[in-house]
Amino acid sequence: MNTPITIPLKDSYKLFNHGPVSIVTSAHGNQRNIMAASWTMPLDFSPAKVAVVIDKNTYTRELVDASGEFGLQFPMRKNAKLTLDVGDISGRDADKFSRFAINTFPAQKIAAPLIADCIGWLECKVIKQGAESMDLIVGEVVAAYADAEQFLNGRWHFSDDPQKRSIHYMAGGEFYTTGDAFTTEDN
Ligand SMILES: Cc1cc2nc3c(=O)[nH]c(=O)nc-3n(C[C@H](O)[C@H](O)[C@H](O)COP(=O)(O)O)c2cc1C
Repeated sequence: MNTPITIPLKDSYKLFNHGPVSIVTSAHGNQRNIMAASWTMPLDFSPAKVAVVIDKNTYTRELVDASGEFGLQFPMRKNAKLTLDVGDISGRDADKFSRFAINTFPAQKIAAPLIADCIGWLECKVIKQGAESMDLIVGEVVAAYADAEQFLNGRWHFSDDPQKRSIHYMAGGEFYTTGDAFTTEDN
């Protein structure tokens, strides 16, 4: 497993400013769950906030509403199949953690587990729910971690190994791997 290092909450937006697909984890009582989510965004620097669309029909939403917490993490390409798998079935029908042999580690400030082989992890507490019709969940980031190998001096330096990079979901099972950085001076 790659090593998560703690990063300042005000920098947590950097983990997903580039729009990678995410995995949402949740827990309430002795129940826990995991699902894929493409529709996420940073909302503020300090206090750091995130927005995530979590459909009201998902088991995840039930657990997030009940607990007021969720984990948000950004998978490496090596977890692309897992991302599709956990977005394809409901935790109401199967324990996805055992079915897909998912490696987890404990969060510090929320009960939901965090997922190995991601590039970034956020622990979030729900601070406001959007209009019911939009299924928008807003959370405050209470802890943030990044892959020690790829997040250096406050920014991403993605590995040359594409399996370690974050991924962007299009549709129909197709992803893009995060590409190479450039500045306007490079053009
Ligand atoms: C790549 C991908 C992205 C997804 N993005 C979202 C999303 O942003 N919001 C959402 O509510 N569902 C999204 N889904 C669908 C949920 O992951 C799916 O409904 C899941 O089965 C819900 O599981 P649960 O009932 O165990 O919570 C996505 C699915 C995939 C495969």
